Amino acid sequence: MPYNAPEGTADMLPAAARLWRQTTDTAAKLFSTYGYEPIDTPLFELTEVFTRGIGEATDVVGKEMFVVRSGENYKRALAAGDDSGLKSKQKLSLRPEGTAGVVRAVVQHNLVEQGAAPAKLFYAGPMFRAERPQKGRLRQFHQIGAECLGSTEPTADAEMIIMLMRFFERMGVPAKSMQLLINSMGDEHCRPAYRESVRQYILDHEGEMCEECRRRADTNPLRAFDCKNETCAHVMAGAPKITDHLCDDCREHYEAVKSLLDAAGIKYIEDPTLVRGLDYYTRTVFEVQVTEGMGSQSAIGGGGRYDKLAEAVGGRPTPGLGFALGFERMVLALEAAGALSDTPKRVDGYIACVDDSVRPTAFDLLCAARDAGLTVEMDHQGKSLKSQFKMADKLGARHVFVLGPDELAQGKARVRNMASHEERLVDIAAARKLLAHFGGQPMGAASTPVSLDELFSSENL
Ligand code: HAM
Repeated sequence: MPYNAPEGTADMLPAAARLWRQTTDTAAKLFSTYGYEPIDTPLFELTEVFTRGIGEATDVVGKEMFVVRSGENYKRALAAGDDSGLKSKQKLSLRPEGTAGVVRAVVQHNLVEQGAAPAKLFYAGPMFRAERPQKGRLRQFHQIGAECLGSTEPTADAEMIIMLMRFFERMGVPAKSMQLLINSMGDEHCRPAYRESVRQYILDHEGEMCEECRRRADTNPLRAFDCKNETCAHVMAGAPKITDHLCDDCREHYEAVKSLLDAAGIKYIEDPTLVRGLDYYTRTVFEVQVTEGMGSQSAIGGGGRYDKLAEAVGGRPTPGLGFALGFERMVLALEAAGALSDTPKRVDGYIACVDDSVRPTAFDLLCAARDAGLTVEMDHQGKSLKSQFKMADKLGARHVFVLGPDELAQGKARVRNMASHEERLVDIAAARKLLAHFGGQPMGAASTPVSLDELFSSENL
């Protein structure tokens, strides 16, 4: 029986893989104008980086982490019946998100030197969460994220949000189908009292709330704002709002971020119930949601400030903030908006063989054309001439180089312009020489690659 990809994963077939590359290229170009540089961290980290960074009481860490065990450790854990025999450095998990690992790397390599400019880093790659798969919710999904460490200024928050919105616009997500939600989560001065007031509120409404929310009252009361249970959502709509409990510094910071967004013409909705699913956030949080065609997984990206995260993973106090966007959800949003366009595989030219005797010459020309930087294809399946023309057409070739034994005997080949159907005889040796002139250049050399139009219009042929 053939195998399928594991539940909750999806193969990126060529069209999707092409789009992923286009998306990461667009991100790299746009983010570099904001001063961001690429970073790649391991797909797995010590589990503690996530438990300390993201928070033990979050769903992401508490329920959704894929634990990784190496061969020896796995045997030891099996023998012990659980992994309690493992040392903490032997406990590894696949990354459920990128922020904790990036901040770990920033701390480890001291990327934010005292007094130096902030470290601005972006990444793109797979993340892993053992969630119940559904539309827009996968166990392996792809994020593009950006993190900025070393600034407490509200301009950094506004810049981060603007960069995310510009990215979605550039990818073609229509502005009218997106809404940006923002909130402030307060800091270590004002949040504890707020958290306590929410805990008390949940306890006062215990009878109306689901078992999980009742449990959350003590472990992580703010999570109750995210409960999908309708009654809980109704009850939580009346809960105390963080924005009524912010300390002066947090309020001032939040007001400054909003006025910067206003000045930049960025529309947003203030949502005092936006708490996000990760515990590291302080002050600004934001989420971009698309309502049409997304099912219940409407968030295509989100992020916020995490001024205490560097300390949580063992570093010195370093403020930070960032976002991540979900590639698969963004694609769903583009699909729903009818804004998804594919650029199918195309070639510059096609080399067709009338019979097998001309194949060695065809292959030689094929290699020379590729060395000259042209995208050229020939048949590798022994197809008839008619089928080769069909294939050339399907691949969008504008020119087909037809090699036949009679013309080849005179050192010639026919070139057909696929649009005008005009054909003319060209000299193979001259074409070969011209290609060789452009071929063999090292990558990045300042050479002008020959185009087929140029080649076939050349007086030399
Ligand atoms: P997050 O909100 O957990 O934030 O994830 C960011 C985005 O990843 C979501 O908005 C969603 O589009 C996508 N996503 C999350 N889970 C799944 C899933 N199971 N399947 C498909 N897509 C998913 C973070 O990960 C933070 N690290 C963002 C951040 C960066 N905050 C500060 N810096």
